Amino acid sequence: MAASHTPVDLPVLPAELQPSDGRFGCGPSKVRSAQVEALSASPLIGTSHRQRPVLDLVASIREGLRALYALPSEWEIAIGNGGSTAFWAVATTSLVRERAAHAVFGEFGQKFADETLAAPFLAPSLVLSAEAGAVATLVDEAALSAFAQDEGPAVDLCAYPHHETSTGALSPLYRVTPGSAGVSDDALTVVDATSIAGGVNADVTATDVYYFAPQKCFASDGGLWFALLSPAAQERARELHAVKDRWMPQFLDLSIALDNSVKNQTLNTPALATLIMMDEQIQWMLASGGLPAMEARCRASSGAIYTWADAHPHAAPFITREEWRSPVVATVDFDEAVDASYLARVLRANGVVDVEPYRKLGRNQLRIATFPSVESVDVEKLVASIDWVIAQGS
Ligand SMILES: Cc1ncc(COP(=O)(O)O)c(C=O)c1O
Repeated sequence: MAASHTPVDLPVLPAELQPSDGRFGCGPSKVRSAQVEALSASPLIGTSHRQRPVLDLVASIREGLRALYALPSEWEIAIGNGGSTAFWAVATTSLVRERAAHAVFGEFGQKFADETLAAPFLAPSLVLSAEAGAVATLVDEAALSAFAQDEGPAVDLCAYPHHETSTGALSPLYRVTPGSAGVSDDALTVVDATSIAGGVNADVTATDVYYFAPQKCFASDGGLWFALLSPAAQERARELHAVKDRWMPQFLDLSIALDNSVKNQTLNTPALATLIMMDEQIQWMLASGGLPAMEARCRASSGAIYTWADAHPHAAPFITREEWRSPVVATVDFDEAVDASYLARVLRANGVVDVEPYRKLGRNQLRIATFPSVESVDVEKLVASIDWVIAQGS
């Protein structure tokens, strides 16, 4: 993505440092050319989503996800409109019976917690938080003692992000043990994998719901949510569908989404372009070695950034604990000798875009996505470009 011009007061990157593709954003993220070609070659654009060709496309996506995650046959894949934000509302109405617990360690985990906290038909949620840059879990010592001391109703849904995009922190993937102190006997574990699904090898059967949107590792556009559902999660959706005293709009009714999804359709009209590009990416992932190969790609790219930042006199990885460092979103803090916002401005003027930190974090930081579509060689060039800009002075 070569820049057509650079503002006169900003340095121009030497051609040999210019990445072949300058998209390093956290979503919408870099789309591979093959996906755009699949889109322009597809006879499906502008045709009915209720007819066989589009139903077959949705079937291909569902089968592809089933293969990627080696899903047991009794698990289902539901699809709906509205992205992961809509799924928070779906989960609030269709999966929380009485009370939720949330592990929060950044912006997106907090947003789901805010949704259940605001629901008038639920008891106040239990929220366990850690500061940005760390990971809170619902199974560590602090959490177990919070559950034990809590005096509210037992929680029946436990939620956490597998990956917090705002900070680049990766949580372990775990299930909260049903029947443990403060937790109901049939509690579900519901995991936000929006920005990590497709980027690490994950055993989703360690959870009950693993949901995501297509505009990150799957390199498609936004606007849909996908949820991998255990039998217990499907049962909960059916149970709450039957509850008469809860307001349940069709759009937020997971049982309706499920009924449609098994027929390879969505309740209302989906973006066909998003589906076509998603399918292309899933087929590419499967043909390239599946999730283990995707994780290896992402770790090679992000590892190059962490190694560089660890050795740099003015930079350091924001996430200090190595096991929490994201393979797909590398966040790098700079000391006062370097103005990260200037770095991002110079890079943007040179066609290298979206490396600004999460807008509400307010740090002197760069945030670089290393999703599967991003080439490691481009990440190496980006790092060299940053060094070069720093060496020019501001
Ligand atoms: C971890 C996480 N959860 C949820 C969302 C919201 O996704 P959407 O924009 O599809 O609603 C995002 C978006 O960046 C995210 O990164």
